[in-house]
Amino acid sequence: MGYAPSPAWSPVEAAIEAFLVADATARMQRYIDFLRIPSVSALPERAADCRAAAEWLAAELRRIGAARVEVSETGGHPIVVGERIEDPTLPTIVVYGHYDVQPGEPLDLWKTSPFEPTIRDGRILGRGSADDKGQIVIHLNALEALLATRGRLPVNVKYLFEGEEESSSVHLEAWMKANPERCTGDAVIISDTGFFEGNLPAITVGLRGITYLQVDLVGSYLDLHSGAFGGSIVNPANALAKMIAGLHDADGRVTVPGFYDDVIPLGPADRAAFAALPFDEAAYLAAIGPASVAVGEAGYSTVERRGGRPTLDVNGIWGGFMGEGSKTIIPAHAHAKISCRLVPGQDPVKIGALVEAALRAAVPAGLSIEVTQLGDGHPFITPLGEPYLEAATKALRDTFGGEPLFLREGGSIPIAALFQQELGLPVVLLGFTPPDDNAHAPNESMDLANFEGGIRAVVRAFDAVAAMRDPRR
Ligand code: BES
Ligand code: ZN
Repeated sequence: MGYAPSPAWSPVEAAIEAFLVADATARMQRYIDFLRIPSVSALPERAADCRAAAEWLAAELRRIGAARVEVSETGGHPIVVGERIEDPTLPTIVVYGHYDVQPGEPLDLWKTSPFEPTIRDGRILGRGSADDKGQIVIHLNALEALLATRGRLPVNVKYLFEGEEESSSVHLEAWMKANPERCTGDAVIISDTGFFEGNLPAITVGLRGITYLQVDLVGSYLDLHSGAFGGSIVNPANALAKMIAGLHDADGRVTVPGFYDDVIPLGPADRAAFAALPFDEAAYLAAIGPASVAVGEAGYSTVERRGGRPTLDVNGIWGGFMGEGSKTIIPAHAHAKISCRLVPGQDPVKIGALVEAALRAAVPAGLSIEVTQLGDGHPFITPLGEPYLEAATKALRDTFGGEPLFLREGGSIPIAALFQQELGLPVVLLGFTPPDDNAHAPNESMDLANFEGGIRAVVRAFDAVAAMRDPRR
């Protein structure tokens, strides 16, 4: 079930291939078992499921042969750790993934239920199949294949799987500071990114940071009759719409004072790298919907706007009557969830405060405002020429063929900058998801050729690190 040798990837050594062939059905069943657990970190009612996913992972690590496996408390959803220290003189790789997932909703748009994984047309469908449970399973399978065939790993590995990545990793930084020994090594591999459009092998070398806030505007104790009151008082929904509209100018730039002050501008080499990507804008837009057009900050290409420039977006906006038909009211309150994606140079806490100040300054008299900061993460760049990046590049090249692309992506992974800035470790984003994986959306899926190739690429990446001339710098 699910396993097919594919021209999309090259086999590794015969013993490992033989193991993986024999293990194919069991491997897919474990993948399915993991996806069945609805570990949605954002929903309080799913806390027990998050813990169940953590316990499942810990049991897997123990079964496969990792040592010092623990489900470690954070104050939120637990972190799972485990390790194989083969020989203290070998380089140590920290492997990171997240077992939490986005909510399944809207359920009616799924072809199959999000937590009842299904294999169809060479893909496995289900929430977390790509982001990020599938990529954790890739690592577990690489570990198992190596131990089953060689009896040991070519490097030392420490696993760190968290359960709050999709909710801004709020407890992670404090946990890392309290458990430094679990997070340190010679380099970090984060498997939570993917390939480029056309399913071209790629390594992400840049991530945007993020700051996220909620705005609550209140005008009255209760909803009011819009005939009796309309036109004579401030309507919080009207006001919120106007405040949000004022956050961008006609050139698509964010108007928040100071927003761009610390942005490191894209240099000629950055712009050349974006321009060199084999990006098919028409296909990118067509995949979104028939009427999509490219818009954004003036003076930048679509790939630059997405990967290299900061943004401000409303993620949700609500208030007043949202049922069927009409109801004539002035809403008592109105709300929005707003996030900014940030680029190198920008500090998420500072930008959060600037956006909050701009919103407070824009509230009309007669309304009260509350702003809640919901989380943040720093932007991240892997320097080109980083030796561990070269090892990962070789692993992808040898597994999937061709020269991997280097991408600056628009998404965020808060831990990447923590490893780099707080612990001073080189970080490589070695991810395998297909670009059309529908992450965070209905019908999330993983291409099984990427999944199988991913297992081989992790084996190769460990071997490539072991072969590095100077892994301890
Ligand atoms: N896997 C994504 C990050 C990602 C997305 C990297 C697209 C590259 C391209 C990750 O799980 C994710 O979605 N992160 C959140 C983080 C946020 C909640 C702090 C994101 O980017 O929205
Ligand atoms: Zn993810």
